[in-house]
Amino acid sequence: MTAQTAIPPGIDLLEEINRLRKEKNAVILAHYYQTPDLQDLADFVGDSLELSRKAAETDADVIAFCGVKFMAETAKILSPDKIVVLPDMEAGCSLEDSCPPEKFKAFREAHPDHLALTYINCSTEVKALSDIIVTSSSAETILQQIPKDQKIIFGPDRHLGGYLSRKFNREMLLWPGVCIVHEAFSEKELLKLKAQHPGAPVAAHPECPPTIIDHADYVGSTSGILNFAKSFDGDTLIVATEPHIIHQMEKALPEKNFIGAPGADGNCSCNICPYMALNTMEKLYLCLRDLEPRIEIEESLRLAAKKSLDKMLEMASGTVGKGDLGDR
Ligand code: 13P
Ligand code: SF4
Repeated sequence: MTAQTAIPPGIDLLEEINRLRKEKNAVILAHYYQTPDLQDLADFVGDSLELSRKAAETDADVIAFCGVKFMAETAKILSPDKIVVLPDMEAGCSLEDSCPPEKFKAFREAHPDHLALTYINCSTEVKALSDIIVTSSSAETILQQIPKDQKIIFGPDRHLGGYLSRKFNREMLLWPGVCIVHEAFSEKELLKLKAQHPGAPVAAHPECPPTIIDHADYVGSTSGILNFAKSFDGDTLIVATEPHIIHQMEKALPEKNFIGAPGADGNCSCNICPYMALNTMEKLYLCLRDLEPRIEIEESLRLAAKKSLDKMLEMASGTVGKGDLGDR
């Protein structure tokens, strides 16, 4: 039986989700790249760092994670006694796919004097092989606490690593992974859009390639971009990240104009994250009802991965989710 046919006909999905979350004492966490219906019903919407913190501190029995698998796994690593469900277990990430644990292990072993600073967009196995995890909102704070003479390998996002390396004039060996969503923005189309909206600032996620970052007035995490949107002067902002975040901007500032940066085809449809898009209201209803699919992690692997995540939470403790990569 497919997920769709398992849903009783004629039910009100929102009503059922609300009933189930009470009945199961569930908290619904959602990332900004989820569709507006999921963002609007979530108990909390945030960037990767904020969602990790929420997962670590919740007293709910169930965490229903509207995001991608590495985010739900992070929730399980930090809250092992909770049931963690993900509406669609196929919701992966191109950065995670780019970094198979056995290859990452070999990379580490080839550089024994390097510290492994690793972006949270990776598998639990890669977290277990890393020294410190970072998110886009905590990377700068954490990097600044690492002694200047400490050699670093950074994976799996070469654009975030490259951005940090340029900004802090710090050499790092970069794993060659990219986010397929941010990689799809077109510099040529962005310049055309800027010409059509003279003076409109550009806010970009650090997963963007340098060809896009070079035109940005602000670079930061999803929460950072949202905060920039709430504070910039002017009436139009060009947003170079996954376009579903624009929902929050339009809710907060309905009088302003938020435009998604274009892909090579001149619109932003190629910048919708295909993994995040797998989660739907129907699948959220089913996972709350059946408490499946569940994230399960073998205990010794979980404990190994928790070390690098705990290090992140400790080193980022002063960081609020305001995208402290800051202005360029
Ligand atoms: P944030 O931590 O900025 O929310 O980024 C998560 C992500 O996957 C961006 O593509
Ligand atoms: Fe991964 Fe990119 Fe999707 Fe973020 S937007 S989850 S980095 S594929």
